[in-house]
Amino acid sequence: MLIKQLKAIVGPKGWTSDPAAMAPSLVDWRGAFHGAAPIIVSPASTEEVAAVVGACAAAGVAIVPQGGNTSMCGGAVPDESGSQIVLRLGRMNKIRALDVENFSIEVEAGCILEHVQQAAKKANRLFALSLGAEGSCQIGGNLATNAGGINVIRYGTARAQTLGLEAVLADGTVVNSLRSLRKDTAGYDLKQLFIGSEGTLGIITAATLKLFPDPGLRTTALIAIESSGAAVKLLSHLRGSIGDSIEAFELISGFVFGLVEKHLPASVPPFASEYPWYVLTDITCGEGTEHLEQVLQGTVEAGLACDAIIAKNEAESAALWRIRHSIAEAERAAGKALKHDISVPVSRIEEFLQRGDQLLATLAPGSPLIAFGHVGDGNLHYNVAMDPGSEQGAQVTTAIYALATEMGGSFSAEHGVGQAKRDYLRQYRSASEIELMQTLKHALDPLNILNPGKVI
Ligand code: FAD
Ligand code: MLT
Ligand code: ZN
Repeated sequence: MLIKQLKAIVGPKGWTSDPAAMAPSLVDWRGAFHGAAPIIVSPASTEEVAAVVGACAAAGVAIVPQGGNTSMCGGAVPDESGSQIVLRLGRMNKIRALDVENFSIEVEAGCILEHVQQAAKKANRLFALSLGAEGSCQIGGNLATNAGGINVIRYGTARAQTLGLEAVLADGTVVNSLRSLRKDTAGYDLKQLFIGSEGTLGIITAATLKLFPDPGLRTTALIAIESSGAAVKLLSHLRGSIGDSIEAFELISGFVFGLVEKHLPASVPPFASEYPWYVLTDITCGEGTEHLEQVLQGTVEAGLACDAIIAKNEAESAALWRIRHSIAEAERAAGKALKHDISVPVSRIEEFLQRGDQLLATLAPGSPLIAFGHVGDGNLHYNVAMDPGSEQGAQVTTAIYALATEMGGSFSAEHGVGQAKRDYLRQYRSASEIELMQTLKHALDPLNILNPGKVI
């Protein structure tokens, strides 16, 4: 009965129950979580999403919203019961409006992130969110996970780049908060409820996003350094000398470069020697590459950096960023890994890495550390090549999360909680925080039909 109703709502192009067509939506990007569903629906409008959710609510059937399915924590796949409906947003991919003078763009949730970047660029504007999955992840998924990526240091997370939102509630009601204002103090800021809620409080159908002036000349540099601590000192030094023009500041270990090289031969950095750590940075100071060369020369002379390569043109810059954006794929190709997406205060990065090394030496001797991340935001991907399903793997994860928490950090910096980290949320948030989260969940989704089993 429900299935028939859903098919009628979305029409023949809006659903599939063909096992081959459903398969990619029933497993997560890393292949760690598998699920089942009776049907996948792909509504083409907000009205269709509302009707689908209303019908599911009436039948008491759960819905799993899915964007590009690039989640790193199993957030977008259904459970194994075979009873949950997957709702893909990909057909809702229109750019509704771009206001050049207001520096804003209104897009549907299923727009691929890269397409939004391109639309902004065409209008001589910048949509600043950028991450390795940008060719396939969708704005709805980015907002639902409050995605970070490489430009947070300058522009903030997805949350900071959102002006307005449209969402469908668990009973099918549409909440339209698609305002494009920088200032608005009228009541609760409702859009914030849905950003970072991973599809558990409502289904995001559209958003108004902040644009920035196109920063123009962007210089990319790959800098070899001796230690992770040098990266933090270097960042502090650069911020002191060239101000707020650092758009990205990514840390990559020598081991991780090796992984990428195996996956993408010829991508190795063209330095004369190998170094333990590297920083990849984008800087937009108007004075260009010559000025940056002088600044970097100064950092080498001051002992903060060992060597540096400055991309001479866009192609060289793209080649360097290709290395960075291929890390997740190279890591996946190398096999199973514990994924620890932690954050600590930027000033404590080196201490975290040192104490992490000590833990690994005891709990997982010989297991390679895959460390990289958004060091300018204090966010490290402190991954370990081990089976997450093993007892030893669970011990390592528990110890690493405890270390990050003890150091004033978070066990979940940018990928969200999904199903992978759900039990840790209960452990690392206070009883009153968990209770408030449950109160919100219950108020907005009393039947527990929105992405049940995720986050909380
Ligand atoms: P999905 O994976 O489809 O969904 C993610 C969560 O959001 C799920 O809980 C899902 O139910 C929910 N959801 C999806 N769409 C909606 C919607 N419209 N309404 C409500 N809920 C919804 N993340 C970072 O933060 N920074 C990175 O640098 C980064 N790099 C990555 C690189 C690679 C190669 C990969 C594969 C992933 C990376 N990620 C990164 C992880 C991932 O969080 C992001 O890719 C992205 O934000 C997820 O978008 P998506 O459309 O794929 O969402
Ligand atoms: C990244 O920064 O590349 C991502 O967050 C993906 C990952 O952690 O693998
Ligand atoms: Zn990341």
